[in-house]
Amino acid sequence: MGRTIVITGGTRGIGRALARHCANLGDQVVAVGSSEEGGGRLREEVPEARFVRADLSSLRQTRDLVERLSAEYPAIDALVLSAFRFNPARVVTEEGFEHTFALYVINRWLMAHGLRGPLENAPTPVIINLCGAGQSGRIRWDDLQLKDRYRALAATVQGARASELLGTAYASERTKYVLYNPVFVATGLHEPFKQPLRGLVRVASALFAQPVAKAVPPIAALIDRPPTEPLTIWKKGKPIDLAVDPDEARRFEETVRTLVRSVLV
Ligand SMILES: NC(=O)c1ccc[n+]([C@@H]2O[C@H](COP(=O)([O-])OP(=O)(O)OC[C@H]3O[C@@H](n4cnc5c(N)ncnc54)[C@H](OP(=O)(O)O)[C@@H]3O)[C@@H](O)[C@H]2O)c1
Repeated sequence: MGRTIVITGGTRGIGRALARHCANLGDQVVAVGSSEEGGGRLREEVPEARFVRADLSSLRQTRDLVERLSAEYPAIDALVLSAFRFNPARVVTEEGFEHTFALYVINRWLMAHGLRGPLENAPTPVIINLCGAGQSGRIRWDDLQLKDRYRALAATVQGARASELLGTAYASERTKYVLYNPVFVATGLHEPFKQPLRGLVRVASALFAQPVAKAVPPIAALIDRPPTEPLTIWKKGKPIDLAVDPDEARRFEETVRTLVRSVLV
């Protein structure tokens, strides 16, 4: 039997293209998304993949998903973290978190830690965190939920920096952690914007973005042959050096753990 690959955000864009690639190789693919519409598209395009619906901006739904996947899949070869939503205006989840922080930061931490057991049962397990690593993002330590002057870009680059810190804190000899920045891939990036920005992003995407099909092979190669180091950082198929302060990483992880405990008692 093929490998088991779990892809959050596996119903669109890079995640769905990767789902198709892996399913074609005979892997058992589990693709998670929040909408039935996305699930329907996945069923049409990658009928071999299994769709699981969950709103991953919800800590409770993420916890339930992790429990379900752990019970159903004793070994998971790869966990691909690709669920993301660009929020032009500030959105607050039912559990009281700024949406980008809930989905891009807390969910990724919960998935990686919650599935540690099944990952460690696989022969060469890997976590691929698709994010904006290496873009000089920063954490707003004084306002993590961006209550004061929300800006979508600030939320996005904070999430990217959070991935760098949480990847550093994860550091496991057994399950390799890969931070992968695909840089600029044509996945419908214009959709969240209003005109005239929508038109501009659409044109920029048509001119400069990489087609999804081209973005997938280097990511798939990291699943086939995970790096030997516990943490590696990649930009568009090339490894990059990035200094991350381990103390800041520990401090940030502890902060996320505390936020999680405030909901999941
Ligand atoms: N595309 C780029 O140029 C680029 C550049 C740098 C980094 N990245 C990173 O690469 C990853 C994939 O990007 P992409 O452009 O391929 O994304 P995308 O096409 O926008 O797809 C996002 C996926 O996330 C799912 N999703 C969104 N909100 C969710 C929620 N609350 N719960 C569960 N699933 C949810 C969506 O499905 P539903 O809508 O059905 O929920 C969809 O499957 C992201 O992490 C992004 O940060 C992309």
